Amino acid sequence: MSQAPRHFLDIWRHDPATLRGMIEDAKRRKAARRGWGQAEVDADAPARGKSLAMIFQKNSTRTRFSFDAGMRQLGGAVTIATSSDMQLGRGETIEDTARVLSRMVDAVMIRAVHHEDVERFARAASVPVINGLTDRSHPCQIMADILTFEEHRGPIEGLTIAWVGDGNNVCASFIHAAAAFGFKLHIACPTILHPDLVDLARAEQSGAQIEMTSDPRAGVAGADCVVTDTWVSMGDADATAKMDALEPYQVDSRLMALAHPEAIFLHCLPAHRGEEVTDEVIDGPQSQVWDEAENRIHAQKAVLAWCFAGGR
Ligand code: CP
Ligand code: NVA
Repeated sequence: MSQAPRHFLDIWRHDPATLRGMIEDAKRRKAARRGWGQAEVDADAPARGKSLAMIFQKNSTRTRFSFDAGMRQLGGAVTIATSSDMQLGRGETIEDTARVLSRMVDAVMIRAVHHEDVERFARAASVPVINGLTDRSHPCQIMADILTFEEHRGPIEGLTIAWVGDGNNVCASFIHAAAAFGFKLHIACPTILHPDLVDLARAEQSGAQIEMTSDPRAGVAGADCVVTDTWVSMGDADATAKMDALEPYQVDSRLMALAHPEAIFLHCLPAHRGEEVTDEVIDGPQSQVWDEAENRIHAQKAVLAWCFAGGR
């Protein structure tokens, strides 16, 4: 009997040891290839002979290029398509697409408008499926963020991450990760843009330490990391109302000064300079956003290697 494929759909679905194993694998792989060309293959080549399909229903720079680079570094091959180029964009069902691609590739990464579509794809697929961002979460991003944090500040357990801004999909994946990695999460957001209550309740049940506030100054006070994201996510309705509500949540140098003196600043990018973050902060000495972007490659390689280690 064939094994169930190892999907990576959301951080909360995985146990702490599995997630920690991925972060440590990412660190090892990154260290082992320092100074190498981007297309050179890791010594163990865990994706040799394997292929990854990437499907995009929304725009992407980092996710697209980091999965491409990562899969090649693992010794595998990639195929990329936007859903509008596929029959998916003309009404072929998610399930039929998943069944067909499962006969043609060894794993699928999807960036979807609706989270349910990624779940449906995974249920119908017989190969691993990876969530490359949905309206509800962005798990690969947070794996890269944890890797980045630990490179600069050491073990994340017991330290405080302050999320400032919209309680959106990226914030949700921080909520999903808080208990498994043992960090404290402060969320400073306007009441009308609070995170998903189901996510918060699940995290609380798992023992996550999460504090909510509508005061950005209270949220960042003493934090070891300040994180923000765009005020208007892809597909968001009512951009003007969101921009108005989020105006007091800009991360500027006065706000950063309230965090721990060694706090780092993270942003998944793309940034809207002058909105959620000032140039002074994103280009300043505490900003680690370029390491964070690069770490998408290393973190996702660990996710892919874990998926492939499960066999088919
Ligand atoms: N952070 C992130 O996922 O970037 P892209 O939208 O460019 O993939
Ligand atoms: N919250 C943003 C993240 C982009 C990487 C969005 O969904 O558009």
